[in-house]
Amino acid sequence: MQKNTIEQLSVQSRTKLQGSVHISGSKNASLPIIAACLLAKTPSRLYNIPRLLDTTSMLEALSSLACNICIHEDHSISIDPKQCTGEALNKNVAKKLRGSFLILGPLLARYKKAQIPLPGGCNIGARPVDIHLTGLRKMGAYIEVQGGVVHASTQGKLKGAEITLDVASVTGTENLIMAASLAEGKTIIHNAAKEPEIVNLCDFINLMGGKISGAGENTIEIEGVEDLTGKTFNIIYDRLEAGTYMIAAAITQGDLKIHNIHPEHLGAVIDKLEEAGAIITINKQSLSICMPKKPKAVSISTAVYPGFPTDLQAQWLALNCIADGPACVQENIFEHRFMHAIQFQKMGANLTIEGNRVISAGNDKLIGTDIIASDIRASAGLILAGLAACGTTYISNLHHVDRGYVHLEENFCNLGATIKRKTQTLEVVSQK
Ligand code: EPU
Repeated sequence: MQKNTIEQLSVQSRTKLQGSVHISGSKNASLPIIAACLLAKTPSRLYNIPRLLDTTSMLEALSSLACNICIHEDHSISIDPKQCTGEALNKNVAKKLRGSFLILGPLLARYKKAQIPLPGGCNIGARPVDIHLTGLRKMGAYIEVQGGVVHASTQGKLKGAEITLDVASVTGTENLIMAASLAEGKTIIHNAAKEPEIVNLCDFINLMGGKISGAGENTIEIEGVEDLTGKTFNIIYDRLEAGTYMIAAAITQGDLKIHNIHPEHLGAVIDKLEEAGAIITINKQSLSICMPKKPKAVSISTAVYPGFPTDLQAQWLALNCIADGPACVQENIFEHRFMHAIQFQKMGANLTIEGNRVISAGNDKLIGTDIIASDIRASAGLILAGLAACGTTYISNLHHVDRGYVHLEENFCNLGATIKRKTQTLEVVSQK
């Protein structure tokens, strides 16, 4: 008889979170920086890579391209691209995460050919890759998409170009920066994304010998160089993991000290939490947050950095459900990023979903029930709702949690929550 296992997280109700939590390295900075190791001929050693399903899948992708990966005792990771020949990336590896598409730019720049399947990843909208492909074509790449695979090649080196992005795509900007860093001449990217993860990537490429200026600004200039040399580099801390714990403090009326952060990356969420009634004290690489009374509901509208991040929208909506008063959450980045709202409704939330806006009535008494995570950040939103609900909430589809959050259950339990992972084995009866 065939057996299937399912995993569920049970989240018990109503604990005021208290204590300290240490934030990991940034997932969304690690993925492009791992890909950028392909640009050099010599090994790089990366510190502060978070141990997540997504970073493991990205390392697996490089390993499948014959890069030698070594995990050291101090948790740093060496990536040696010497044996890499620029072979096609396997579909099964690529579909595990959207970040696998970040291999296109470096592979094409270094090996003059790349075959990368269209990526998988979170189900939050159409998520096209036209911006990546249009930019590479402007740099002289010949690109065809056949059978779900991007076939890219170039005769000689890619050529520097002036590119204006239709949308300030994060991974689109990253792919083009990596491709341009080994191109002939200067590339100028207008309407570039400004996220801190892009600045971290550019710092790494510049350390390897690249010539990039303007990272974190609207226009980025990249002067192509002949060669890049592998280096030792530190990944920044994860602003989205930090933001998730900050909102968790607010929703439970808790009191947390959050270590290993870059406070300057958290401006928009700090402002909104203070509006909701949180008291926040900022130190150099840590902050403390407490919510002394019931939070006030606050409207948000997601935007590219430095605006309110779409990756904290689900967590914020959970907060607005139980907070005092009505509010509106407007999602401007991804068209299908409200799957969690339907799960909150199952818990009793009074929400009206209208296109890209969700209006919450506020003061909801959420009741624990069976709910399903639909993407990485939705899974965090559901856990936060579970912490604020009466009774026990059972969350399934946990691989989304494991893709984006390190030691999530342990961290929450250390802060006083009761969260347990249960594995259930189901017997599958075949009916003939
Ligand atoms: N877009 C296009 N064409 C493109 C690329 C994007 O129209 O070629 C559109 C998208 O459909 C979307 C908007 O542009 O509406 C922004 O998408 P973007 O390309 O910026 O997103 P991404 O690069 O695919 C990264 C993060 C996401 C994060 C978004 C927005 C990584 C690996 N992923 O995705 O992170 O939500 O930027 O900030 O960096 C997560 O960590 O859970 C996550 C989903």
